[in-house]
Amino acid sequence: MIFPLLLALLLLSPSPTLSLPNPNTSAPIPYASLTCPPPHSPPSLLLPTPSYGSTGAVFGICTSVLVSAPARLIYAALLDFSAYDRWNTFIVSVALPPGVNSTLPPGQRPGVYPGMRMTLISSGILGSGLHSTSEEVITVLSDNNSSSTEGYLLAAWRYDDLLSGLGSRAEHPTVLVDLGNGTTRMLSYETYYEGLFTGTVALLQDVLQERFEAQARDLKAYVEGIAK
Ligand SMILES: *[C@@H]1O[C@H](CO)[C@@H](O)[C@H](O)[C@H]1NC(C)=O
Ligand SMILES: *[C@@H]1O[C@H](CO)[C@@H](O)[C@H](O)[C@H]1NC(C)=O
Ligand SMILES: *[C@@H]1O[C@H](CO)[C@@H](O)[C@H](O)[C@H]1NC(C)=O
Ligand SMILES: *[C@@H]1O[C@H](CO)[C@@H](O)[C@H](O)[C@H]1NC(C)=O
Ligand SMILES: *[C@@H]1O[C@H](CO)[C@@H](O)[C@H](O)[C@H]1NC(C)=O
Repeated sequence: MIFPLLLALLLLSPSPTLSLPNPNTSAPIPYASLTCPPPHSPPSLLLPTPSYGSTGAVFGICTSVLVSAPARLIYAALLDFSAYDRWNTFIVSVALPPGVNSTLPPGQRPGVYPGMRMTLISSGILGSGLHSTSEEVITVLSDNNSSSTEGYLLAAWRYDDLLSGLGSRAEHPTVLVDLGNGTTRMLSYETYYEGLFTGTVALLQDVLQERFEAQARDLKAYVEGIAK
């Protein structure tokens, strides 16, 4: 998104306090059975997210691919933000909090955690090699070890407009469903919600969709290369 770039100039220091929105537990989302709605679907068909549910959804982007690798391997690559520059042509790098390097072995690093802030540096939204940045907060890391997440792995982060969501709200879940034959279905989507800037961001919908598809292809190729 381009607004974080502008806001970063206006608000040189991020807000010191951060409150994560409470996931709407009253309406469990059937992540394992979600499928992408058609492009440019009306709000009623958009996929809900852990923090925001369905209320106020404006537009969404979504891609689904089959990956010939175990879900756990894809999950690990997805969360190894320090290595994004090796494979991701959309999010070309990620700035993590001081001391966090997701590539270091467990025990040698503080791992990524829900509530962790990060800055995504993306390519291809503004065109001609310009990069844009986006402040994000990890909202869900669900690794299938609890009974409530049987059958899928889920990781999600949400956009932080540094205006408490007034400017724009969006959340990006990735759902991994092991199909049991050495193949994993990866569903990657972002739903955008009402906000002062959402209408303008919506103009980028087709570009964002293309970038999401590229990112999914990149991750598939990267992980399948490791799995071999
Ligand atoms: C949570 O989900 C329930 C059931 O769908 C809905 O009635 C309620 O408005 C939601 N709450 C919020 C804060 O979105
Ligand atoms: C993270 O750790 C890996 C493995 O030691 C190293 O190759 C990489 O350069 C580190 N990345 C950063 C951003 O420090
Ligand atoms: C989840 O289970 C796997 C397999 O038993 C284990 O390797 C992993 O460490 C567990 N993760 C957590 C957070 O407990
Ligand atoms: C999640 O756990 C369930 C039940 O233990 C298992 O059948 C399924 O294959 C697991 N899925 C992944 C993606 O690890
Ligand atoms: C695995 O199962 C899925 C769903 O049934 C199917 O689409 C896919 O082609 C299968 N992959 C392999 C390698 O058998």
